[in-house]
Amino acid sequence: MDFKNRDVISIKDFSKEEINYILNYTKKMVPYAKGEKHTDILREKILSSLFFEPSTRTRLSFESAMNRLGGRVIGFADPSATSQKKGESLADTIRMADSYADAIVIRHPQEGAARLSTEFAESPVLNAGDGAGQHPTQCLLDLFTIITERKKIKGNKIVLLGDLKYGRTVHSLAYALSLLGAELTFVSPESLKMPKEVINECKEFGVEPSSISNLERAVKDADVLYVTRIQKERFPDAEEYNRVVGMYKVDIDLLKHAKEDLIIMHPLPRVVEIDPEVDKTPYALYFKQAFNGVPVRMALLSLILGGKKL
Ligand code: CP
Repeated sequence: MDFKNRDVISIKDFSKEEINYILNYTKKMVPYAKGEKHTDILREKILSSLFFEPSTRTRLSFESAMNRLGGRVIGFADPSATSQKKGESLADTIRMADSYADAIVIRHPQEGAARLSTEFAESPVLNAGDGAGQHPTQCLLDLFTIITERKKIKGNKIVLLGDLKYGRTVHSLAYALSLLGAELTFVSPESLKMPKEVINECKEFGVEPSSISNLERAVKDADVLYVTRIQKERFPDAEEYNRVVGMYKVDIDLLKHAKEDLIIMHPLPRVVEIDPEVDKTPYALYFKQAFNGVPVRMALLSLILGGKKL
């Protein structure tokens, strides 16, 4: 399977076989991601890291991944300190990043910005989140986490909770979980329901997601509870945000209804939707999930930049 110079814009650009291949290769990266083994298969390679929106995990785990592979990173985390401030276009910024590096990772508030960037770059472009669009590397690390914890995806009952309208992670994930044969339940405030087009994509894979409003009922049968933040920054109206934030909360009381081996995931950052008390329980997988961003991104960078196979 050849991934050399491939763009990573949407999880939909990858077949089931390709996704499984990346996830399998990721397993080999884990000891390198933990610093237990060492490699420099991307020595001399440079990643350009362009973050037009705030990030902790995605940016730092891409940097960690590149460093763990012996490569280097240039870029910015604050676009106001770049020539964008003087009116430079996205196209010209991408052209520059392309000429300084071997691959580009971009996070941008506008949906479609990563796909557009591919038109101005010869190097591969990796989408680190484009508005309410896609977040394919998050999707891969979510899949990797579920497979690692539950051995397989097929047949698992997975509840997606929270902001299903604007949440790019759940859009990518609902598609991929359907492709891989999971059973899906959606729980969200009425105004933040999963978009129809995402539900239709799930149906194309023979998955009929159910939508319910009662979280206790959803949690009862769940193997995986995937929680998301209500994203204040995507709301056109602050009043509407205030109406829905805090509507659902995962706490110790809720977990009395859960199966013993339920796992709770969250792409993070969390705000109020998971009580910190839950962190101490065996259900809490979200910090381990965030770590998995390193081996997943190592696998992708290595495959795309043509590093020697480990
Ligand atoms: N999950 C995620 O994308 O986190 P950051 O916004 O911190 O990168």
